[in-house]
Formats: sequence, structure tokens, C-alpha cells
Amino acid sequence: MIKQAIIPLAGLGTRLLPLTSILPKELLPINGKPGLEYILDECINAGIKEIIFIISNKKKIIKKYFYNDKFYKKIIKKKKDKRVKFEYNKILKYKNKIKFIYQNKPLGTGDAILKTKNLISGSHFLILFPDDLIIKKNCSKEMILLYKKFKCSIMASIKVKREDVSRWGIFSIKKKINRRNFFIKDVIEKPNKKNAPSNNAVIGRYILPKDIFKKLEKQKKGVGGEIHITDSIRELIKSDYNFIGHNFAGKYLDCGTMKGYINSSLEISKL
Ligand code: G1P
Repeated sequence: MIKQAIIPLAGLGTRLLPLTSILPKELLPINGKPGLEYILDECINAGIKEIIFIISNKKKIIKKYFYNDKFYKKIIKKKKDKRVKFEYNKILKYKNKIKFIYQNKPLGTGDAILKTKNLISGSHFLILFPDDLIIKKNCSKEMILLYKKFKCSIMASIKVKREDVSRWGIFSIKKKINRRNFFIKDVIEKPNKKNAPSNNAVIGRYILPKDIFKKLEKQKKGVGGEIHITDSIRELIKSDYNFIGHNFAGKYLDCGTMKGYINSSLEISKL
């Protein structure tokens, strides 16, 4: 079963500057809660028991959100306000499930994930990218159910506009399973319009095998000089590992840009 999840949180968040010069983007409030909490709610409700946060020295304040200092702890404990109590208790509950690991140089998603190698115990694990909020339906839960059935790797996906393919990991389909699921033939990180194999984009939810670490250890830098998880996934596909692309049922909100961040608050306030 999938019991562990990784959340990479060491990114610099430059697209949301100057806000992110004082607060990590994952702690910026979306309709009254840090964006990160929606991601945590999703994994906990999907049955995840342990979450690994990849942070950096610059983003230690994320740890502080879960380990309140004594000063605020005392005040919060005396509070009668239901919302404050609920949120505080939730943070305490989540705190016990979180492990912290550091990536101090932003060398890419692949490099970040490799840092967790010695903490992963099961054959497969879940990754959630905090920029990608999925609301209305729990995408991780859907993917874990799919994993139970097919016992292989899974990536969340949506169709994007042809002119936007260079923003995403793009995959081609080997075989359709049903309306929402496909076996993947190949995946390319941020291709240009000309060499994009389709307009099926990877969204930040992955169920990956532990064997990805062997590929990551040898992974060379890719587009933009970064080590991408997508390139190691490609290597696994070449070595005949099955990957399913899952067109999730929920609604996707991109919180990594200012426009998307503002829109996500609006969308969530309507729920
Ligand atoms: C990352 C992945 C990319 C994926 C995207 C989803 O890109 O490398 O393959 O499509 O997340 O959000 P990033 O957002 O880090 O540029």
C-alpha cells in the first residue's frame, strides 16, 4: 500500500516575488489557510501515514508553522474560538506525521526527491507538488485506488492548450484503458510546440516506484540545467516500467503564478 508521501518545498517561488521574499509561497493563505494545508488535507484523507517535507534553510519557517513557539502555544490553548482550536489541533495532528529533509541548492525536482531515498520504506510512494491544488475530488485517493488495481506507477494529467506545452511535462499514450486512464508511451519535460508528442500534461501528483532512486542517482541535468523527475520517469518507461496517466475528476488550480494564486482563493471561497 501507499503510506508515504513526499512534498517538495524547497523551490524559491520567484514568480510570486516580492511576497515570497518574506513568506514561502506554500504558507501564503488561500481563503484563510496556507496553501500547503490543502495539500496535506488531500494526502491525509487519502490514507497517507507519513509525509516527507523537502525544505531548505531559507524556508525553515515552514517547520515553525507546525512547531509553534511556546509564546503562541500558550495563547492558542486559552482561545475559545472554534476555528482557531480546530486549525491548531489539526496542525498538531499533522505535525506527528511530518519528517523534514533539506535541499539547500535548488537543483531541480529530481535532485530534491533523491534526498528522500533513505526514508522511503514501501515499494511505491506518492509525490504532491504544492503549486498544484486539485479541489472538489481527492486526486491522491483516486490514484491510490488505481494503484491498488494496476500495481504500477501513475501520474495525474490534464489536457492543455498546444501553445502552452512548453510549461509542462508532456506524455504520449501507448494504450487507452478507459475514459480517464491511459498507459503512457513516453514523457518529455517542457518540450517546445514542435517536438511535443501531444497536449497531455503531467500535473504534480505521482505514484512512483522506489526504483526511481537508481535512475535519479545517474540522472543528468535536463532543460534549464535542472535535474528533473520527468527525465528519470522517462528512463523507467524505457526500462519497461508501466506508467498510467490519470485524467483526474477534480478541478485543477495552478498556484505557482500570481494570477493562478489569486484565482485559487476565489475558486476555493465558492466551495
Ligand atoms: C513540474 C514538472 C512538470 C509538471 C509540472 C506540473 O514543473 O517538472 O513535468 O508538468 O511540475 O505542475 P514545474 O512546475 O516545477 O516547472
